[in-house]
Amino acid sequence: MDVLIIGSGGREYSIGYALKKDENVDKIYFAPGNGATDTLGKNIALSDFNELANFAKESSIELTIVGPEDPLVNGIVDVFHEHNLNIFGPSKAAAQLEGSKVFMKNCLQKYGVPTAKYLETDSLDEASSFINTMSTPIVVKADGLCAGKGVIIAPTHADAIEAAKNMLSGESFGDAGSKIIVEEYLDGYELSIFAVCDGKDYVVLPAAQDHKRVLDGDEGPNTGGMGAYAPTPLIDDELYKKVEDRVIKPTLEGLKKDGMPFTGVLFIGVMVVNGEPIVLEYNVRFGDPECEELMVLIESPVSELFYKAATGDLANLDIKLSNRYAVGVVLASQNYPYSSSQPAEIIVDEIVHKELSENSYIAYAGVSKDEDGTLLATGGRVLVCVGIGESIQEARDRAYMLVGQVHFIGKKCRTDIAYQALAQ
Ligand SMILES: Nc1ncnc2c1ncn2[C@@H]1O[C@H](COP(=O)(O)OP(=O)(O)O)[C@@H](O)[C@H]1O
Ligand SMILES: [Mg+2]
Repeated sequence: MDVLIIGSGGREYSIGYALKKDENVDKIYFAPGNGATDTLGKNIALSDFNELANFAKESSIELTIVGPEDPLVNGIVDVFHEHNLNIFGPSKAAAQLEGSKVFMKNCLQKYGVPTAKYLETDSLDEASSFINTMSTPIVVKADGLCAGKGVIIAPTHADAIEAAKNMLSGESFGDAGSKIIVEEYLDGYELSIFAVCDGKDYVVLPAAQDHKRVLDGDEGPNTGGMGAYAPTPLIDDELYKKVEDRVIKPTLEGLKKDGMPFTGVLFIGVMVVNGEPIVLEYNVRFGDPECEELMVLIESPVSELFYKAATGDLANLDIKLSNRYAVGVVLASQNYPYSSSQPAEIIVDEIVHKELSENSYIAYAGVSKDEDGTLLATGGRVLVCVGIGESIQEARDRAYMLVGQVHFIGKKCRTDIAYQALAQ
């Protein structure tokens, strides 16, 4: 089959990379793709949903896979369905789980899924009264999409009220902050769990842990993610079962009953507190850079997973997951995440070590090509070096070996990806 992938990051590159090795897949298209996805397929410069749907029809594309949240929240899936096309991702209605934290929290409450106690409000007076009844720290969240910057963990009551005020006035995040969530702080450890869903059935992929802060030891400001690994030893069968019974099943049943069955990836941000999973948030797509690791941990053809999910047929999927580990280290540009950097040429040494070349790959993200075809680092997160191994240590060693093979001016990365798992 021919496949169209929507997006331009390392996540979309890694989906293309997995599909490229898949015997069921012929042509791969990316819209818009990046400066390296054209080595896996063809880049298409379209973004309008109807134009994309027409392109999919004219090119006999049997499956479209949506990477990022923006097109999902803006309804790309509904447009493709109107054209009778197969597409992997949730409808606009179901994508509100990520598009609106108020919607998400209200769903969790309605479906009885464990989550932090909260208040939803658009009134500063109401927010302040609630804040004054809470113990510190206090979490204040803007309702809408804020590119991962809409959550404040306030150390004092005054800071929490200040954060609520700045959000509600529109100063911090414009319209995305016109409603807010004030919630209790949860003290535990975080996991990312991914359930691929077809509206009624689901498949759980290996749980991952990401590293949001820019510096080693989880210091410095938040980023889109500096690295991740999977599967994480921080989850066992008992915890998986709790997540399935208390989180995934009631959520999918509830959404179906409410007329918005969920298709695509339900990305569950979980805080584990005293062994109990509590939902921090839902996203409606793969995490980036978690996807880059997950794509090499699926041994059966990935096209089947995506296609069967998109066509309501997961009950007939026989997925084979790898029993190996993958670690991904993000190489970022010099000034990330503060400001953009000068474009820099990327040089990748030839990998002569067979063991490394067979157990690693580069997922390209913020890259473009100049007129001569030279690959340039142009984005904040430039690429992800992924290592695969029989243990987290081995996978991580290979990821860092690969990091040593890649050069560009200003290249930087964290040196401690997967440290929590290795400290176990
Ligand atoms: N109730 C909470 N208690 C403790 N930490 C929280 C809480 N809510 C969010 N966080 C922290 O803030 C981060 C971002 O919050 P999240 O709800 O995932 O929003 P987003 O990813 O949209 O920015 C989480 O990954 C977590 O580290
Ligand atoms: Mg999050």
